[in-house]
Amino acid sequence: MDFPLFHLDWAGNRMLIAVIAVLHVLVNHSMAVGAMPLIALVQWWGYRTADPRWDRLAYRLLGVCFIVTTTVGALTGVGIWLSASLVNPHAIGSLIRVFFWAWFTEWIVFITEVCLILAYFLTWKSWGERRKGQHIVFGCALALASWLTMAIIVAILGFMMDPGSWAERRSFWTGVLNPIYLPQLCFRTPLAMVMAGLLALLLIPFFTARDAFRRRALRFVGVWTLAWSAPCIVGAGFYWLAIPDAMRSNMPVALATQAFQTWHTAVAQILTVAAAAILIISLWAVIKPGWLPRPATAVPFLLMFVLLGYFERVREFVRKPAVIENYMYANGIEIDKYPLLREEGVLAHATYASHRTVTPENELEAGRDMFIIACSRCHTTTGVNGVVNKLTTMYGREPWSREIVLTNIRTLHNVRPFMPPAPGTDAELSALAAYLVSLQANPVPVGGAQNEGVKTPVTTQPAVTLRPTALGEG
Ligand code: HEC
Repeated sequence: MDFPLFHLDWAGNRMLIAVIAVLHVLVNHSMAVGAMPLIALVQWWGYRTADPRWDRLAYRLLGVCFIVTTTVGALTGVGIWLSASLVNPHAIGSLIRVFFWAWFTEWIVFITEVCLILAYFLTWKSWGERRKGQHIVFGCALALASWLTMAIIVAILGFMMDPGSWAERRSFWTGVLNPIYLPQLCFRTPLAMVMAGLLALLLIPFFTARDAFRRRALRFVGVWTLAWSAPCIVGAGFYWLAIPDAMRSNMPVALATQAFQTWHTAVAQILTVAAAAILIISLWAVIKPGWLPRPATAVPFLLMFVLLGYFERVREFVRKPAVIENYMYANGIEIDKYPLLREEGVLAHATYASHRTVTPENELEAGRDMFIIACSRCHTTTGVNGVVNKLTTMYGREPWSREIVLTNIRTLHNVRPFMPPAPGTDAELSALAAYLVSLQANPVPVGGAQNEGVKTPVTTQPAVTLRPTALGEG
């Protein structure tokens, strides 16, 4: 509440982060963490068998990974933290405080990774055959640096899901070595290897002639993929067991949204079939690579993209209503600040709000501010996960009255455990209800032309009076 609130009212703030993050994870896992060891292995295999065709294949695979990771990969990597800071600056601020040295180290490891990939790619030809052995060492160092960048970031993701004993000890290392850290690393590491295998399966037909060598190359990456699938499945099980029980109950909505949650088993089955199809095609590449039709080599990678997107959505969703479990709700408000805000008011403590107290005259504006502060991290008004649509579904054709909406706002978190309780005083919640009811007759997106009396969107208007607050000290 100390920051101006950025809000995308059509697509939703979550969507902004999701698009950037899923693209980044796809590139990072398949083209950096997983691809670098695979490429170094293919290069080494060519060196050992004195067959230059393996070397050429490794070089071409590296060319693709080099271009994509240093452009899309690097931009979306920074983009995740930029978009997340935009949407929830207070949460990112808390994470920076705990993981300060981790981020610092990440930066150094990342620069090392970029230098190594430049060196590995650009010296490939000029070092020639005589120094091939040394050149492969570059590949191994690059593989290690790529893995380290992921190994550091995974600590932060695990922490958000379960900070473990950090709540009592508040030390850097208890934050890093949170209960989800190792399970998630044990899953993501082999997952990245599998993804690199699928990427190679997709690319090999472009980089080889239709001959015996292509068949050998397909078999090679098929074996790689299958070999890493086993630890990937074990890692997934380990990860699943580490997820706190309460979060697993969010699974149906996480998989299928509230409207389709009864179908969650069907969705889970479809995803399992997709995973099985990936394994079957990989096995096919090992047993009968010559019979593998060309389009089939692209299918596993595309399916993996879908599975990955799902996995990241579910991981983000099950953690709700918290952004940092046991510490902060997704609306960016610390859980232990709730009693204070109930007593003194959200608006009184918000740095950016049009009004400090609710009066009959400013009710709609104050209610809109409340919506922006308490609901807009997850909801839009009329767009994705729009609150107008949610309320219409809840009440059917019945007009929503202020009393009914108010009762629901107060109690929804009991029946929808993925939503945080609505913060604030009775007057503020009542103003929020009035604002929501006003959307019924006049569903105007926040940020656009507003209900009468509202001149400037809350997103750009600083508070009338800025006074130091307990929250501001963070
Ligand atoms: C942590 C994110 C989050 C926050 C914050 C949040 N909600 Fe929700 N809310 C959800 C999700 C997710 C759903 C279910 C979406 C779906 O799958 O249809 C939902 C559903 C709803 C529904 C429909 C409930 C039903 O039973 O059909 C209403 C109404 C609602 N939210 C209102 C609000 C209001 C008002 C606020 C602010 C005080 C708020 N929400 C804050 C995530 C959130």
